Amino acid sequence: MSPPKTTPHISCTAEQFARTVIMPGDPMRSRFIAENYLENPILINNVRGVQGYTGTWQGKKVTVMASGMGVPSMGIYSYELFNVMGVETIVRIGTCGGMQASLSVGDLVLAQGACTNSNYASQFRLPGTYAPLASFKLLRAAVEAAERLDLRVAVGNVLTSDYFYDDSRSTLDWARLGVLACEMEAAALYTNAAQAGKKALAILTVSDDLLTGEAMTPAQRETTLGTMIGLALEIA
Ligand code: HPA
Repeated sequence: MSPPKTTPHISCTAEQFARTVIMPGDPMRSRFIAENYLENPILINNVRGVQGYTGTWQGKKVTVMASGMGVPSMGIYSYELFNVMGVETIVRIGTCGGMQASLSVGDLVLAQGACTNSNYASQFRLPGTYAPLASFKLLRAAVEAAERLDLRVAVGNVLTSDYFYDDSRSTLDWARLGVLACEMEAAALYTNAAQAGKKALAILTVSDDLLTGEAMTPAQRETTLGTMIGLALEIA
């Protein structure tokens, strides 16, 4: 057995991780998914309350672990999973703010690309702007699974923003170039996947509409969480 590889943020060994990780933002959601969808879930990490569980789904080993909120937090966890824990695939499930009239609260968005106002990719010292992309294989699998499950999905660009509270009110500017929705983690996940040669996809639900101010009810949140988990597990 290889020696335990620990990180500052994860206190288990690579062997305890599945190759595929489903990653909600919220640690409580991670526990909810483990308890309600996985068989024999075992708590493998609880550093900073970022709960990670490994169990099986239809016989396949799957880990669910939270990312926390925002680019730095997703940057840390996805880096350690891809580069230390031997994880091959991360599927983020989360919420987003809709920015197009064609989208309604409760709709599903598959983030094909993630524009960003974060300077996360500047660490790679590229002579231009990097375009973080989802894994085409995962994206195609998610589109096909959505068709099988009769789910309507929008596929396209999202904005990964550093600002939930945006004094510049610049978020909606991105809608002019067809960006569907904004969230706070996908660009970091996709950039780290590219750096590590691994696969990632963000499956999002529109929790609030930035054009109308409409927001999801708690009941809708439960239902759409179930839908995203179903889709993520289908492609896992
Ligand atoms: N901004 C950023 N992230 C979000 C939003 C938003 O308006 N809604 C849900 N996640």
